[in-house]
Amino acid sequence: MRTKLRYGQVGGTLSAFIGGVHRKAIAINEQAELVAGCFSSSNPGSNMECGAHYGIEDSRIYPDYRTMAEKESVREDKIDFVVICTPNRFHYDVAKAFIEKGIHVVCEKPLCFKVEEAEHLCRLAEENNILFCVTYTYTGYNMVKQARELIGNGLIGEVVDVKAEYLQDWLMDEVNNAGSSEKKLSVWRMNPDFSGISNCVGDIGSHIEETVSYMTGSKVKRLVAMLDKFGHELDLNANMLVEFDNGAHGTFSCSQIAAGHYNGLAIRIFGTEGAVEWEQEHPDFLRVTLKGQPTQIYTRAAHTSGHALEMNRIPSGHPEGLTMAFANIYRTFADALLNRINGKDTDGKWDLDFPNAEDGLRGVKFINACVESSDKGSVWVEL
Ligand SMILES: NC(=O)c1ccc[n+]([C@@H]2O[C@H](COP(=O)([O-])OP(=O)(O)OC[C@H]3O[C@@H](n4cnc5c(N)ncnc54)[C@H](O)[C@@H]3O)[C@@H](O)[C@H]2O)c1
Repeated sequence: MRTKLRYGQVGGTLSAFIGGVHRKAIAINEQAELVAGCFSSSNPGSNMECGAHYGIEDSRIYPDYRTMAEKESVREDKIDFVVICTPNRFHYDVAKAFIEKGIHVVCEKPLCFKVEEAEHLCRLAEENNILFCVTYTYTGYNMVKQARELIGNGLIGEVVDVKAEYLQDWLMDEVNNAGSSEKKLSVWRMNPDFSGISNCVGDIGSHIEETVSYMTGSKVKRLVAMLDKFGHELDLNANMLVEFDNGAHGTFSCSQIAAGHYNGLAIRIFGTEGAVEWEQEHPDFLRVTLKGQPTQIYTRAAHTSGHALEMNRIPSGHPEGLTMAFANIYRTFADALLNRINGKDTDGKWDLDFPNAEDGLRGVKFINACVESSDKGSVWVEL
């Protein structure tokens, strides 16, 4: 009976943004150990430095992901899953390489560039019996899970409208400064070769789509989008009008030029009987208003139930955040993988409560639809 998993990572040198968050989140759960990696293929020094920092044997710090997939797959103590934290451009190839070697996958969003690639990954994962997680971070927050539970139980009646925004300002200088983005950290986001056909919608608009869909259980059916590029190749700001498969409507706005906003994801869901509202910068609280009644503030731990309560780690009033949200996703993923390895069923209500390849595919469709709509002069596009 296995109680601990082995994992490897592709991308995520010590100076990278999200790779380190993944490692810390996995470590919180104490369910998996980092034993292999290709943290950078272009900078061997950073690759070895990161591997050495985590005590990985030299022979398991690989120069590229193909060698890693090849060599790991034939080891008796091979990795159980790989964590992909490279820029978007590499997600498809890396995920495919590991799936084909029978290694389970956790991949950063957006899943890949093209809808056909995402469909292919879904098919491959299914055919090879691979557990595939796409780390849409915000689905891991306790209060987002609580919102899903309340809405699913019908507390606010039928959902009729969604207002969601994700506002940042880290690309403000670029509005009057086309072509100078090489000064910025994570500059690859503004380069279509690495980011894909969208920067802002791909990077943060995709989080809105997945988080709203997770909270409401409804999917975007069609949309109209207007993306602003301010002279750059890719978008820095976007506004979308959406229609969901249950007939509800909504507006999504995402921006990286919104002065004074750092990571302002805010989601307001309006139903026939009330509203549920959540803000990422105040993640431990949920604002719930029922028709004709004063607004209530639900607090993490104190007012959670179901999976949100199961995922609770520390008492109310001690703020949790991004790393813990990742840890929640990893806990469910690792539980499911251990169950599978140990021949146990995963048929409980929350056993597979993490974003999967199908969610990743929907995200890629969403990004492509936004760009297509905007390019055609803001026309309706079906997903
Ligand atoms: N879920 C979230 O909330 C969230 C947040 C930030 C970033 N992301 C996603 O995570 C990914 C990485 O973003 P980041 O901000 O950490 O970027 P980053 O530039 O900080 O890090 C990218 C890392 O990938 C490595 N790398 C690049 N190409 C590689 C290759 N072919 N093989 C191995 N390693 C390679 C680089 O050396 C670097 O360490 C992106 O897809 C991004 O969209 C998701």
